Amino acid sequence: KKVAVLISGRGSNMMSLISAAMSPSYPAEIGLVVSNKPDAAGLTKAADLGIKTAVVDHRDYKGDREAFEHALNGLLKDNAIELVALAGFMRLLTPFLVNEWRDRMINIHPALLPSFKGLNTHERALDEGVKLHGATVHFVSAEMDDGPIIMQGAVPVLEGDTPETLGARVLGVEHQIYPKALELVANGKAKVKGQKVSTTGSDA
Ligand code: GRF
Repeated sequence: KKVAVLISGRGSNMMSLISAAMSPSYPAEIGLVVSNKPDAAGLTKAADLGIKTAVVDHRDYKGDREAFEHALNGLLKDNAIELVALAGFMRLLTPFLVNEWRDRMINIHPALLPSFKGLNTHERALDEGVKLHGATVHFVSAEMDDGPIIMQGAVPVLEGDTPETLGARVLGVEHQIYPKALELVANGKAKVKGQKVSTTGSDA
């Protein structure tokens, strides 16, 4: 399956997908990396590995989210993209793009959904005193950080953790689960059934 990874920043999750996809037996190839920010560090990392990159700068569309998404969608179609993986892509999507890619667009969120949707998840997890935290890969639906859950990874919250130390622990688990989740989706082994995903052949 030909996959586009959408980023806005450093792209460490993107790199974990690119690394996994380098294995010949992996069922997906990263055919395109798109950023909405021209200065995203992940763009150079991908280009250095010979992966095609593109920028669709939301500021060029002056607040017209649908026009931005039409441009993005056109780029994905022109490149024969079959699956989209959001990896630190910091734009809320409208129902247009979500419907266009229903069951073919996945996201990683740095919390155990449905807890801690939105931003600053590590700080909020510490404020709530949870003892387990983690990351979730899910299909994208119209609601932010919602949609059928494909895979989760948990880490302990340790005494003395700061948002930074906890975030680094969660990031480690993100880099493990995102390639596995994309593998399941690309293999057709993660299927959406109503609000849930049923998986076969998952070792996670
Ligand atoms: C990750 O924590 C991801 O879960 C969140 O944004 C961050 C992106 O980091 N959605 P990176 O760009 O993949 O390094």
